[in-house]
Amino acid sequence: MDTVIAKLTGDTRKDDAYFAQAGEILRSGGLVAFPTETVYGLGADALNVEAAKKIYAAKGRPSDNPLIVHIADRADYAKLAREIPPAAGLLYDRFLPGPLTMILKKSAIVPDAITGGLDTVAIRMPSHPTAARLIRESGVYIAAPSANLSGKPSPTKAEHVIHDLNGRIDMILCDDTVDVGVESTIIDLSGDVPVLLRPGYITLEQLRDCLGRVDVDPAIRGVSVPAGVVPKAPGMKYKHYAPDADLAIVEGEPEAVIARINALTRDAKARGEKVGIMATEETASRYPEGIVKVVGSHRDEATVAHNLFAVLRAFDEEKVDRIYSEGFSGHNVGQAVMNRLIKAAGHTIINA
Ligand code: TXA
Ligand code: MG
Repeated sequence: MDTVIAKLTGDTRKDDAYFAQAGEILRSGGLVAFPTETVYGLGADALNVEAAKKIYAAKGRPSDNPLIVHIADRADYAKLAREIPPAAGLLYDRFLPGPLTMILKKSAIVPDAITGGLDTVAIRMPSHPTAARLIRESGVYIAAPSANLSGKPSPTKAEHVIHDLNGRIDMILCDDTVDVGVESTIIDLSGDVPVLLRPGYITLEQLRDCLGRVDVDPAIRGVSVPAGVVPKAPGMKYKHYAPDADLAIVEGEPEAVIARINALTRDAKARGEKVGIMATEETASRYPEGIVKVVGSHRDEATVAHNLFAVLRAFDEEKVDRIYSEGFSGHNVGQAVMNRLIKAAGHTIINA
């Protein structure tokens, strides 16, 4: 399949034609990748079962892993969900459009093929202008997982989407203004108490400030997943965000972390391995060996969220055998960073 690579430039005439073509593709059951404020999504008409199935095939994604439905108007919640609890209204007024996905009881129009057979549906209204315009102009609800091959880090740049999906989908809308860098926060509002299923840029603290009690799915605490706990968001149970290299997180006092990463790097190099070090603005100069990449700043962990997946992919490009990363706070947006990093590391955490 030839993939149309559409570089949005701000030239109105060209961009208009690309949006028209993308809308046509979606309405006729094809696949279009597009930027959102979190990561790139791989979109199809959410109410067209055959189209949604193509998403699973293109990504190599297990079909029991449900998709998020993207909407552009507040009224669409009531069409896709059969119950809108008051909490949904509170969250809407405070955070939406934006990087927050709500799980609600699904209405009859939502096909089982996109919910993995669940009685609930994930609904998200993105704030990114390209995403919002594509949804509006196509006239369809867009089912969209992240636009990466299953298991790979989510794409935050057009080049990542092209790398993973060129030749497998109809079109890629390229517009590198993806900002947040990690996928949306997911909150389950289908039960009596709201439950955080996936941490993101909208933090647990902010959700509690808005709603009062919010529980946390025990599976996302990350470091200490109790044995036998199955995540409520089915996607969170799969190996995820993983670079080709083995990744380990080194945690502890900052000086001890630096010393330990340097020692581990020396050992690995002595074994003939190529080592990548995921460092920060504060620490990069302290690593004399290995391929050192700055992922962001400990003082502002939103910068780490923004760069995390791109840096993991950049290490793949360099074909390193092993990556050592510093740990992050685990609070506020650092919770999302650690959640993704721990998955990418397959739970390998070294205490310095
Ligand atoms: O930021 C995002 O959310 C991006 C952009 C493209 O919008 N999308 C995204 O989709 O991250 P995906 O498919 O990579 O992750 C969706 C997650 C999965 O972990 C899935 O299991 C969960 O949402 N999910 C979807 N529907 C659900 C439901 N009804 N109940 C519980 N979890 C659900
Ligand atoms: Mg994904």
